[in-house]
Amino acid sequence: MMNDPCTYIIFGATGNLSRLKLMPALYHLEAEERLPDGTMIMAIGRREMDNQGWLDELRGMLVDKARGGLDESVFQRFSARMQYHRGDLNKEALYAGIRNTIDTDNNFSKNCAIYMALQPAQFGVVIDKLAEAELLDETHGWRRIIIEKPFGYDQDSAQMLEKRLHRYLREEQIYRIDHYLGKGTVQNILVFRFANVMLEPLWNRNYIDHVQITHSETMGIGGRGDYYDHSGALRDMIQSHLMQLLTLVAMEPPAAMDAESLRDEKVKVLKAIRPIPSGAVHAQSFRAQYSNGLIDGQAVPGYLEEDNIAEHSTTETYAAMKLYIDNWRWRDVPFYLRTGKRMAETKSAISIRFKQPPQHLFRNTPVEQMKPDWVIIGIQPKECLRIEMQVKEPGPSMKTRTISLDASLRTEDEESYDAYEDLLLDVIKGDQSQFLRFDEVDGAWKVVDPVLRVWATERDYIPTYQAGTWGPQETRRLFEREDQFWRHSLEPDGE
Ligand code: BG6
Repeated sequence: MMNDPCTYIIFGATGNLSRLKLMPALYHLEAEERLPDGTMIMAIGRREMDNQGWLDELRGMLVDKARGGLDESVFQRFSARMQYHRGDLNKEALYAGIRNTIDTDNNFSKNCAIYMALQPAQFGVVIDKLAEAELLDETHGWRRIIIEKPFGYDQDSAQMLEKRLHRYLREEQIYRIDHYLGKGTVQNILVFRFANVMLEPLWNRNYIDHVQITHSETMGIGGRGDYYDHSGALRDMIQSHLMQLLTLVAMEPPAAMDAESLRDEKVKVLKAIRPIPSGAVHAQSFRAQYSNGLIDGQAVPGYLEEDNIAEHSTTETYAAMKLYIDNWRWRDVPFYLRTGKRMAETKSAISIRFKQPPQHLFRNTPVEQMKPDWVIIGIQPKECLRIEMQVKEPGPSMKTRTISLDASLRTEDEESYDAYEDLLLDVIKGDQSQFLRFDEVDGAWKVVDPVLRVWATERDYIPTYQAGTWGPQETRRLFEREDQFWRHSLEPDGE
């Protein structure tokens, strides 16, 4: 393998992100023999346990997640790379211990990828302490920091965090992660748009009625109450993942496909988003919180009954927004974004609705009210492309039906893999192209900040929706017209 050996230092190794995404991704890289020789993994956690205790816990994380079941021989190889470090993030001792291992144990490469799988409020302290312990010093090997989202809490705090990072780090050492950029289907948006000529001429305000970007989950907040109650759906999903999807759908063709050219175009979209004045926050955004209900027939608790949630919390678990991009291509085309936990289905999709033909040629026939055409890009779990059009029904009368041209973006024998696998490897390779530049993060905060500010002052009441449903009916008020509706289903006619 060509890549340097490296020590992956994972802060928050026993936490949720590590459990659900990082450890499974590293294990799969091990299984596929993609980890460079000499890669070691230092798992940092708060809990007192020895290395064997950590390996037992790790096994538990992987049993359900390993594709095709946990392979013992892969697990043995993987375990051999692991070392658990217990410590308090606020105390020097932890950093001194890490430093000592890196300096003196030759099994550990001096190239270090440091992953902050932590709460945003902890990033700053850990960076300061790493710097004090000279763990960011690149004299004997490279040092790269991976910062999880949300990057900051709002635009101001994001700028402060950015300044703090640059006190000790060069831009080439900072990896601001948004794992949506590592998803194959997300990369496909660009290929679909710019490797084909068919749709690009229609991709503008003359033909597109509106765009919907949806991410829904049946999962609740699980054990993440601590983090989530201070974050909420707008910060957790919209400011990052959904805003990235929006930029990819809306951006102009870049001058080249390299990272900087792509980022330049994405930033241009963010800059062109019409700022939401505080008086328009209610017209352009909606929030709600799940109450108890049924998921897959099982009763689940409401948000307020979850662990570590403040009494009477008004944190949103559902957020929706309407945005306008004031440029030549998109002026006055609404972009509707929504996300929610404990919804009816787990699904991400981009649905693009086209306008009605300019002339109603079928007046005085049953076809008078035509259905609109849609293009739908399924991101997960179904990776697909769907184009819906109207055709005549067989038979004597002039009636139409919707047909769909459907293509799966992955054949049955092509395995789906998790975005984190590639991204974790990109850090070792020193490839920042699928990570965020600060102006993207900053631009996205600028868009959502006015909404966050108003919501922060409205602490008395939040509408609720029953777990297992598509959210409250009131979100309809975001739509510009009666004939617009949330597209829940990939199926034609599905609402
Ligand atoms: C994370 C959010 O960034 O993305 C989670 O913090 C969310 O709340 C997750 O569940 C969704 O990611 P994916 O890859 O499962 O769509």
